[in-house]
Amino acid sequence: MPTKNRASFGSRLGIIFASVGSAVGLGNIWRFPYETGQNGGGAFLLVYIICVLCFGFPLMMTEFFIGRHTRSNAVGAFRALTSKRGWRNLGYVGVLAAFLILGFYSVVSGWTLEYIWQALSGSLSGKTAEMFMADFEAFSGSIVRPILWLAIFLVITHLIIISGVRKGIEQSAKWMMPLLFLILIVLCIRSLTLPGAKEGLQFLFQPDFSKISSGVVLSALGQAFFSLSIGAACMITYSSYFTRETNIPKTALSVTLLDTMVAILAGIIIFPAVFNFGIAPTQGPNLVFVTLPNIFEQLPWGSVWAFFFFLLLALAALTSVISLHESVTAYVEEQYNLTRSRAALWVSGSVFALGIVASLSIGIWKAHTLFGLTLFDLLDYTTAKILMPLGSMLVCLFVGWLVDRKTLQDDLTNQGKIRMRLFPFFVVFLKYIAPIIIALIFLNEIGLF
Ligand code: PFF
Repeated sequence: MPTKNRASFGSRLGIIFASVGSAVGLGNIWRFPYETGQNGGGAFLLVYIICVLCFGFPLMMTEFFIGRHTRSNAVGAFRALTSKRGWRNLGYVGVLAAFLILGFYSVVSGWTLEYIWQALSGSLSGKTAEMFMADFEAFSGSIVRPILWLAIFLVITHLIIISGVRKGIEQSAKWMMPLLFLILIVLCIRSLTLPGAKEGLQFLFQPDFSKISSGVVLSALGQAFFSLSIGAACMITYSSYFTRETNIPKTALSVTLLDTMVAILAGIIIFPAVFNFGIAPTQGPNLVFVTLPNIFEQLPWGSVWAFFFFLLLALAALTSVISLHESVTAYVEEQYNLTRSRAALWVSGSVFALGIVASLSIGIWKAHTLFGLTLFDLLDYTTAKILMPLGSMLVCLFVGWLVDRKTLQDDLTNQGKIRMRLFPFFVVFLKYIAPIIIALIFLNEIGLF
């Protein structure tokens, strides 16, 4: 059970920053705006906030309980909690999800470095909208450059991981997260002072209830899981470094609220800019990589804004990649008794190999598909739409039915020191409500329903 001499985060602030660092990422600044754009603006935002509070927050508390109680990596955690055969292996679902997410997420993270470079070298200037599109496609489909940036991104991640939980993860989050918030605020002010700001804000905040459909609800829930890093072992792993004094409900609530705030701020940056230049908000995944640089270049000091925006995206991506890497590294280190640096080397090497194939799969290997999807899309699909919801559903059932109620209550309330009046409802939520709703979503996502 609890491992002696295990690493832990050093301060409450460190715990919040590291966890928010995992949650805040490409999901908030890249995925959230384009999902909002495609799913009706304000209506999507409203449903998203409901999903985050009703599902994201309690599920995060559940993962925090598993990690902090067992003080182990995700695979070891379930082994410590039960001797029941199938359930003992539940941790593998999360670790596998984390590894597969890394395969495509780190490739996109590498792209942010290319755009920082382009902003710095001035090569974003003087391009037309068509040129931005053509250049993005040429770059993301090329062989060498995306792989080079991927390698650089992974080396940075690797160095932080091998510096350890406190010196690497916690320290880096402590300066990266405030910097990220600062850049967010500056870019928000810039965007809000554009002539089209009002229209953009109306799109984001004025819900048109007729736009709410089952598809919108499902997209919002999927986005909530992805954005809060739920179902991929990360929150279990990070909470295994919490202290016995950490207030789990409060920490989960802070992380949930801060993550949601960043997504909304990203919307405030992007939609006024999009409306100001009369661009359709329904662009999809290329909204951030094609539309935004195009918008920035039409502003005075365009390359400066572009530089800060992509720096923001890179920092957000880095803290998330670190958490994904740590989930897999902690598993390899503890379950195979390796040193931390050796475990990290295995993980970095394998992620690099997977990332190379994922990157080439949208370039020269585009023609090779499985179920009609390139490897890149397949990794995205299997993690966000299968492993994360399925894993979360099983985690709810596991904690709801198999974990002793008193153990759960004692841990969440720090042996009665914290009041948790809704605990009985929380148990009903874990046993029935969450699994049924997630099952419906899952069946719908894979088209069985
Ligand atoms: N939450 C991250 C984002 O919004 O970009 C992505 C992520 C990180 C998903 C860690 C899952 C995870 F375990």
